[in-house]
Amino acid sequence: MKKILICNQKMYLTKDEAINLSYDYNTIDFSNVELIVCPNYLNFEFFSDYDLGAQNCFYEDKGAYTGEISPYDLYLRGIKYVILGHYERRKYDTNEIINLKVKACVRNSIIPIICIGESKIDRELLKTSSVLKKQITTALSGVDLSDGYPVLIAYEPIYKIGSSNPLAKEEIEDTFKYIKKVLDDMKISNYKILYGGSVKSENIKDILSDEIDGYLVGASCTSASELNNIVKCIK
Ligand code: 13P
Repeated sequence: MKKILICNQKMYLTKDEAINLSYDYNTIDFSNVELIVCPNYLNFEFFSDYDLGAQNCFYEDKGAYTGEISPYDLYLRGIKYVILGHYERRKYDTNEIINLKVKACVRNSIIPIICIGESKIDRELLKTSSVLKKQITTALSGVDLSDGYPVLIAYEPIYKIGSSNPLAKEEIEDTFKYIKKVLDDMKISNYKILYGGSVKSENIKDILSDEIDGYLVGASCTSASELNNIVKCIK
């Protein structure tokens, strides 16, 4: 089974930078991974050779919602995935809003990439399990996945996003066991669990594991040489 590699370009790239990076992506052999590229909305066109994801969407399909992006329109434009609940957006979106957005994605045949993660204090106070359970169960509450509709869960401990090192492999694996249990208890069958947070070429080999279905990469995916080295190690 190929690992999934999601490139979350965040708001790092201007138009010209995105165009240049897209040329560099074209020189990378991605054949050993399932690549999903998540540019900002304005840069989708430069990465149209790849499976695309949006970094967010609204929970209504159409209407008087100034400044929002419709999941229905994303679907019509061939966007297959949407990242929801990323830590960098959770100050705007509650668990309940994220749930509405997950429903909107499923309604529009888009696969949600649901980001979850605890703070450092949560982990120190042994609250990781309860925080993750709440994030997962609320995001997926009332979402009918009984027909095997796919969902991706991206576990990103908050304090590991944009830091120097990822979480230790053993801690990722332990946390994944718990996430799997929560999803299994919810009778969700078609899921994959990814890790995100300071994944870099210099540390990817330390967090390779059969338990990890893939990686959600931020800063490293804006450098073609970094990304190339990550992809080579995943082999
Ligand atoms: P970094 O890879 O820059 O730590 O970002 C992780 C992330 O937030 C991906 O969604």
